[in-house]
Amino acid sequence: PLIPVVLSGGSGTRLWPVSRRDYPKQFLPLLDAEHSLLQQTLTRLDGMPEVGAPIVVCNEVHRFLVAEQLRQLELAHGGILLEPVGRNTAPAIALAAFQALESHDDAQLLVMPADHAIGDLQTFHQALNRGRALAAQGRMVTFGITPTSPHTGYGYIRAGEPMDDGLMVSAFVEKPDSDTAQGYLSQGGYYWNSGMFMFSAQTYLAALEQHAPDVVQAVRDAWQNRRSDLDFTRVDQPAFEQSPDISIDYAVMEYTDQAVVLPLDCQWSDIGAWDAVFDARRHERDEQGNVTEGDVMLHDTTGSLVMSQSRLVAMLGLSNVVAIETEDAILLADRDRMQDLKHIVARLEKEG
Ligand code: GDD
Ligand code: MG
Repeated sequence: PLIPVVLSGGSGTRLWPVSRRDYPKQFLPLLDAEHSLLQQTLTRLDGMPEVGAPIVVCNEVHRFLVAEQLRQLELAHGGILLEPVGRNTAPAIALAAFQALESHDDAQLLVMPADHAIGDLQTFHQALNRGRALAAQGRMVTFGITPTSPHTGYGYIRAGEPMDDGLMVSAFVEKPDSDTAQGYLSQGGYYWNSGMFMFSAQTYLAALEQHAPDVVQAVRDAWQNRRSDLDFTRVDQPAFEQSPDISIDYAVMEYTDQAVVLPLDCQWSDIGAWDAVFDARRHERDEQGNVTEGDVMLHDTTGSLVMSQSRLVAMLGLSNVVAIETEDAILLADRDRMQDLKHIVARLEKEG
């Protein structure tokens, strides 16, 4: 079967003040009032045949949030794997591979970050079905998004020769600098890496063994000394800490010659910052192009995202603003500057 692997370890700092360290973005209903981003991810494969119970990999401190959100969906899980410390995605996915191999030698994994939005599920499911045949042949399948800007927060995939329904990956460059990204865009033939992957558990571990053996070794040791109870699997902390802190992109995808890209046009977005929330909710815009939530009153205001949790927020004569009100903090910002929110968050962490 195809086992969804949901990576839920992020901290979501660029969605402050709603997203907080002990309650990060993936657990919040940022796009739909009923379901959190994690819950939207967990139900994204509903209706697809031969899909196993999802494995969730998260930090120890978020275990009750994950368990509670699964319970709300009445969803059986294939394991909630708890990381004692975050070591990035390469070891997190390795844990899931070991878990999946416990029940199926030929398990295929679909790795999905818990903080993505996908608007067109039908197109997404079609791409997954095409990917399964490739994964069964030992390929490492990536899903490529047509780039619209020289974004430096994404991996870039250069497409090569056709391969079944997809294209061989002739180069994978994780987070190039902006001149390099600009060059790729003018050259053409590049995709953004969506951050979702499909491969068999065995293929992944073999690739990791080849390109990042110290990651597999640490994770294998941590896995062998695990403790499981009804809901949670805890791995051995000293062993897991030995793993390098490295993403799958830097550890494997830049090196493997087994990568294939399937172009994907399904209204995908990575909900990294408030401008992405604004874009993903563009269908909710009023005539002035504003997206609002909660108790909000606007006059001569355009192109703004305004969310209120506890008080009335009124705005007059402003454009392209992000205004996020919570009980203990208010963010007021230029909508085009959202990537820089990290500077404020860094100061908050330092100055308290
Ligand atoms: N369980 C767990 N443990 N999850 C983690 C960890 C960890 O240590 N680190 C990150 N994650 C989760 C994050 O919560 C997120 O959902 C996902 O893994 C990806 O991590 P990011 O840190 O958000 O990666 P990125 O956005 O910088 O880059 C990746 O995604 C881009 C697309 O959004 C790369 O794959 C890029 O190549 C890609 O373009
Ligand atoms: Mg991300």
